[in-house]
Amino acid sequence: MSTPAVTRTLPADATTAALRTDVAAGLSHTPKRLPPKWFYDARGSELFEKITTLPAYYPTRAEREILLREAPRIAEATGARTLVELGSGSSDKTRHLISALPQLHTYLPVDVSESALTAAARALTAEHPGLTVHALVADFLLGFALPGSPTPRLLAFLGGTVGNLLPQERAAFLRSVHDLLAPGDALLLGTDLVKDEATLVAAYDDPEGVTAAFNKNVLSVINRELGADFDLDAFEHVALWDAEREWIEMRLRSRVQQSVKVPALDLAVVFEAGEEMRTEVSAKFREETVRAELTAAGLDLAHWWTDEADRFALSLAFRR
Ligand code: SAH
Ligand code: AVI
Repeated sequence: MSTPAVTRTLPADATTAALRTDVAAGLSHTPKRLPPKWFYDARGSELFEKITTLPAYYPTRAEREILLREAPRIAEATGARTLVELGSGSSDKTRHLISALPQLHTYLPVDVSESALTAAARALTAEHPGLTVHALVADFLLGFALPGSPTPRLLAFLGGTVGNLLPQERAAFLRSVHDLLAPGDALLLGTDLVKDEATLVAAYDDPEGVTAAFNKNVLSVINRELGADFDLDAFEHVALWDAEREWIEMRLRSRVQQSVKVPALDLAVVFEAGEEMRTEVSAKFREETVRAELTAAGLDLAHWWTDEADRFALSLAFRR
């Protein structure tokens, strides 16, 4: 069996350097905050996969429903020979797309989670012996180059991960997607949709406590990588709906007043009892906003597909 190529786009210590910068900035900001990409070490990726199977976490099932239904139309509209996927994780839903693209030559999954990426690349290579799989360990918010591959290209960004970017980050990110593509190449974008508060909050606050463990995993990452002494039991998982900004916000609330040491940064940080630190936003969208944001980035919306229950949307857009 052939083995997929895996390319690290960053030097080995770059991840720790970036984590140090983000933690130093985030813990000294008022209010405290951390970027969500640090959830995804091997355990964080496993916890995310578990989240996708929870009864209340509908986005994965809704997006799979659309992909299964629309894959032939995506194939016909794009004629893709290369599929690039950002934040590919387990690449689980991507299988439906890969199987439906008759001319597909190369699959390029891109993720910061090396464990998830390598496992997915191995599995897909075994399932599709004729497919060239080249995995890239990279941060999709930083510039990175794609290896040469046949055109046209389809770039998939699934799961609603675009909602984890802040509005300014999102605009810059969509522009960078535009720049990665050639005229006529396509973007397939998954976005979770605005809906009633109860459904949204339930998806991010499951009774099984899996999302709470996922949220707290960022503290384990900082403990392991920067020698910090976060006590995970001293923090509580919080998920709330911000109706004005139309996003779910995940936070960690300190149960007590406490001081946390981060030796790698020579830092001691005080958390007041009840103080909340933002760990993720998960924006929810409407068709008009998605269309407008794509247009502003030089991407023209050609198709808007939703699941039967109108919970989630897949957009297919072409680079102008
Ligand atoms: N696309 C999959 C996984 C979504 S989870 C799905 O739809 O189920 C989000 C994925 O994005 C994780 O695998 C995480 O490691 C990755 N990710 C998050 N921020 C990233 C970044 N800045 N650069 C690259 N990958 C990132
Ligand atoms: C990856 N991303 C789209 C997930 C989301 O729904 O925002 C991450 C997640 N956070 C909590 N549960 C799942």
